[in-house]
Amino acid sequence: MKFFIDTANLAQIKEAQDLGILDGVTTNPSLMAKEGITGTNNILKHYVAICNIVDGDVSAEVIATDFEGMVREGEALADLHPQIVVKIPMIKDGIKAIKYFSDHGIKTNCTLVFSVGQALLAAKAGASYVSPFIGRLDDVCTDGLNLIDEIRLVYDNYGYETEILAASVRHTMHIVECAKLGADVITAPLSAIEGLLKHPLTDSGLATFLADYKKGN
Ligand code: G3P
Repeated sequence: MKFFIDTANLAQIKEAQDLGILDGVTTNPSLMAKEGITGTNNILKHYVAICNIVDGDVSAEVIATDFEGMVREGEALADLHPQIVVKIPMIKDGIKAIKYFSDHGIKTNCTLVFSVGQALLAAKAGASYVSPFIGRLDDVCTDGLNLIDEIRLVYDNYGYETEILAASVRHTMHIVECAKLGADVITAPLSAIEGLLKHPLTDSGLATFLADYKKGN
């Protein structure tokens, strides 16, 4: 399973990259705003800064919601850096844009996916990644992980190569469950990724080993 970090924070991206487990980064307009990155030029520069830290795909989202606008913006984003993946919302013109980019060899990430039908359409249009938002489904009392399971089944039925990128991952167990269900990628905050490290028996076991070593030396 690939690990992406879901942030526009350069320090956190660097930390995950230094850990040696990072395969990519996802961003969205809200995450950019959270870091105080505003204005088209600053946003574009920030994408390049992210690409220069991470060795992998970096999702950059279009703002346009019409086909022509998405194509224009997406081509400009893709021209920024070879690692850029154009992130397109799951709307009618978005599907047309995904098909356009797929036909032109530009990678896409279809975002804001909340149903298996949407995921099927994204794969049919040739999306490189599909992003089901599992945490936001959980927020409205709907099982987000079940969506990962259903998409996996449908994609495997037909051999779709679109990668299931579990997004809106809120905690460590989401990551573990996505791995069990066969998600191709998770994108998560650094805290959720670092949660995978933790176990009290590791800590107490290490403390005992170190104490015992000291006794004999
Ligand atoms: O990857 C999508 C993500 O950024 C949305 O997460 O926590 O705002 O639902 P969240």
